[in-house]
This record gives sequence, structure tokens and C-alpha cells, in this order.
Amino acid sequence: MKIGIYPGSFDPPTLGHLNIIERASTLFDKVIVATMVNGSKNSSFTMEEKADFLRRMTKHLPNVEVDTFGGLLADYVSEKGACAIVKGLRAVSDFEYEFQMALANKKLNGNAETVFLMTDQHYLYLSSTIVRDIARHGGDISGFVSEEIREDIVNKLYQPKE
Ligand code: PNS
Repeated sequence: MKIGIYPGSFDPPTLGHLNIIERASTLFDKVIVATMVNGSKNSSFTMEEKADFLRRMTKHLPNVEVDTFGGLLADYVSEKGACAIVKGLRAVSDFEYEFQMALANKKLNGNAETVFLMTDQHYLYLSSTIVRDIARHGGDISGFVSEEIREDIVNKLYQPKE
């Protein structure tokens, strides 16, 4: 069975992430979406909250599983017997960071191949940071995240001023 791992911080997951998951689910027998820790980012949502969001927004995809993992991605790939790490690429600015991670993961685990899916043009500008910022200011995030999780994101991030 060909297993692909789609790792990320997903803080929170966006429609851009969902688009990558849907496309990856047609390329692999099984896709494991793994919420992981990015040491250089502070998280607004807990790992469990993010995993719950991802489960709710991927419930229409029978070959997609959601998990959380606090260790090294290279080890997780071996643990799950995966053949590839899936990452989304938006712009040239993503490339250097992604290239560095792909090479480091390959060095740590010779079997850890990374495959990149180009983002759909509709989501070129979209990021979790933008979603958090809009939600914190009371803006409408409905075009950016799945309907199933929109309210929970707003409830956590939006604190109206008295
Ligand atoms: O969505 P992000 O923040 O770009 O995802 C980055 C993530 C979480 C995939 C990366 O930081 C990661 O792999 N974290 C797990 C720990 C690890 O393996 N670090 C070394 C990466 S070379």
C-alpha cells in the first residue's frame, strides 16, 4: 500500500491545505495528515484542536487519516511505512525552506522522499497566518476555511473589544 504523509502545523488548516489533501488522496492509497510541531512557530490552537478540525474537514475522504506527532518527521515516515512526504508549494518564497526540509529529512531517513504539489491558483495567497489575522480582527474567513470549522476558529481567536 502506498502511504503518503502530509505534515504541517495547520494553525488552523485552510482550504489551501484541504485542496492539497484532496489531490494527494487521489495519488496515494492512503494519506496520513499529521499535525506536527514547527519549532519556529508558536501555535494558537492545540494539536488536538487542529487534528479535530482536520478530521471534520476530511470526513468525505475515506482514504485520509488524521494523526498528531510530537517527534521528528523522518522517524514518523518510517513508523508509518510511508513512501513519501507530501508538501504544498505556493510561491518561490516557500521553496528555499521546503527544499532545506526535504534534504534534511532525506539525510535523516534515506527513504523519506518529498513530493511537492503546486498550490491551486485560487489559494496562492492563502496562509494560516492570514486566516488568524482576519479572524482576530472580526473579519469574514468563510472563503478561507471549511465551513465545518469556521465558527470554532472565530470563537477561539476573536475577542470583541468592549
Ligand atoms: O506547516 P509547516 O509549519 O510548514 O510545517 C512544518 C513541519 C511541522 C512539517 C516541520 O516543522 C516538521 O517536520 N516538524 C517536525 C519536527 C521535525 O522533523 N523537524 C525537522 C524538519 S527537517
